Amino acid sequence: MKIGIIGSGNIGGTLGKHWAKVGHEVMFSSRHPEELQDMAQEVQAKVGTAEETAAFGEVILLAIPYGKVPDVAQQIGSLDNKILIDAGNPYPQRDGDIAQKVIDDESQTATGYVASLFPRAKTVKAFNSIYFKVLEEKAFQSGENRIAVQIAGDDAQAKQTVTKLIEEIGFAAQDIGDLSESSIFEPDAPLYNKNLKIGEAEKLLSEIK
Ligand SMILES: NC(=O)c1ccc[n+]([C@@H]2O[C@H](COP(=O)([O-])OP(=O)(O)OC[C@H]3O[C@@H](n4cnc5c(N)ncnc54)[C@H](OP(=O)(O)O)[C@@H]3O)[C@@H](O)[C@H]2O)c1
Repeated sequence: MKIGIIGSGNIGGTLGKHWAKVGHEVMFSSRHPEELQDMAQEVQAKVGTAEETAAFGEVILLAIPYGKVPDVAQQIGSLDNKILIDAGNPYPQRDGDIAQKVIDDESQTATGYVASLFPRAKTVKAFNSIYFKVLEEKAFQSGENRIAVQIAGDDAQAKQTVTKLIEEIGFAAQDIGDLSESSIFEPDAPLYNKNLKIGEAEKLLSEIK
């Protein structure tokens, strides 16, 4: 697949390299694309601006600070019919009022708000609840050794595609349900950032639900 990475830091850089290694076409974006040349060359990926990367990808990974998502949404447009993976988390200290509002609004999940900024994309929440070092060091495991990556989304086909992208790099997708159910793996929630093997993660989920 063609995968565009918007925000090529801890999460975006790590995932983009993994996906390039298993044969996907990856474009990394940055506000300073020239600084990403070495990383991109290492895995034969492309580098571009956010707009170029959004146009390139069939799947777009959004891995920038949560508070910057509205600005980037204005910049890159509506991502018509593309799959958008939201890996972000709202932290008021870092992200300001936008994060606080989303946390205070019980009718809205963090990714629900992101999805509202891209109404024509198929938004899937994934990779927000795994520590980037675990993502880097525990990839390419098999069977029960795989670490769980929680996933939620309203479009079944998009979720299936993202599940495949999780499993291809040796993690286990843990389906939590639709976006309205995704607060269970947002910051401070019981499933957030536990980095458990899939069996342990399923046990924890059954205890919570
Ligand atoms: N760190 C983790 O373990 C972890 C785990 C799960 C989820 N997350 C979440 O994932 C998101 C990204 O975290 P991260 O740790 O990967 O952050 P990071 O290492 O700081 O990378 C974020 C990237 O976003 C880009 N960026 C920053 N401000 C931007 C703006 N105004 N417009 C466009 N791009 C901008 C930066 O790229 P340039 O400077 O090159 O433009 C930077 O490389 C956050 O919401 C975080 O909470 C983090």
